[in-house]
Amino acid sequence: MRTFLDSDGMVARINELRSEKNAVILTHNYQLAEVQDIADFVGDSLELSIKAARTTADVIVFCGVRFMAETAYILSPDKTVLLPSLESGCPMADMAEAPDLERFKKKHPGAIVVTYINSSAEVKALSDICVTSANAAEIVASLPKDGKIIFVPDMNLGSYVQKVTGRDMILWQGFCPTHMRIRAEDLKRRIAEFPDAKVIVHPESRPDVINLADEALSTGGMLKFARLTDARQIIVATEVGMIYRLSKESPDKQFIPVSEQAVCPNMKMHRLETVLHSLETMTHNIEIPEEIRVAAAKPITKMLQGLQS
Ligand code: 13P
Ligand code: SF4
Repeated sequence: MRTFLDSDGMVARINELRSEKNAVILTHNYQLAEVQDIADFVGDSLELSIKAARTTADVIVFCGVRFMAETAYILSPDKTVLLPSLESGCPMADMAEAPDLERFKKKHPGAIVVTYINSSAEVKALSDICVTSANAAEIVASLPKDGKIIFVPDMNLGSYVQKVTGRDMILWQGFCPTHMRIRAEDLKRRIAEFPDAKVIVHPESRPDVINLADEALSTGGMLKFARLTDARQIIVATEVGMIYRLSKESPDKQFIPVSEQAVCPNMKMHRLETVLHSLETMTHNIEIPEEIRVAAAKPITKMLQGLQS
């Protein structure tokens, strides 16, 4: 019979299994505090894919949403990639399906397909290059000037990149339900309450929210901004898990969430219990059929190589 373990007991057992199985726990910035605290590395989508590509561990326990674990497997197919809670999907990624993208590409022949990493492996496999919120503007600006660009699936990130780069872009109409809950009225109220605060927003936010910000940044970019700014108060428009992460790294600053409603339920499915269960049973194993994996690896590798050069 399995004995009941309290939090300390679960952490101790996770640590034993982590070293026995040569596992690494990669965790996204929006995860619950208890999951961030046991991670080997906490980061944004770009930082996590770089870690997954470079790790020497045999097992990657991915505490994020499914597309992130898929990206880890696509880049490191010789590793066992585990997603502790199989239901942890990304609704935005589900808004673009491969057959629809195939039809869309036929309607716009010759267009370059730029795909946000928040997408399925099948959609990546149909794409020319991937981007994350940390590098989307830089990568789009580096593409040939005369070509049309299809941007999939986030219309908000796409319209932000279009504005920054001035490029001719056709936007897929996907969105993040969590970031859509953040309203410009809520942000204006916060700005009135904290007039000296700096405002940082995630580019998955609505355009009228982004327009009110000092900076639109990936979650990793937000952490860097918080470390470097002289401001003592920072208003943050993104998923609320970010407040724990920011406060832990910059404890001398005050972080003010725009909306407590901005919760991504999918990101909150992993717990100490599910991470422990995942390591004990080696579930849930994320794999992609080889033909799709190879095709999906190309646009991701192109993104990572472009960043190195
Ligand atoms: P970051 O890459 O900025 O962490 O964003 C991932 C995400 O899913 C935001 O909703
Ligand atoms: Fe997807 Fe939005 Fe959740 Fe990020 S916050 S994982 S984009 S649903």
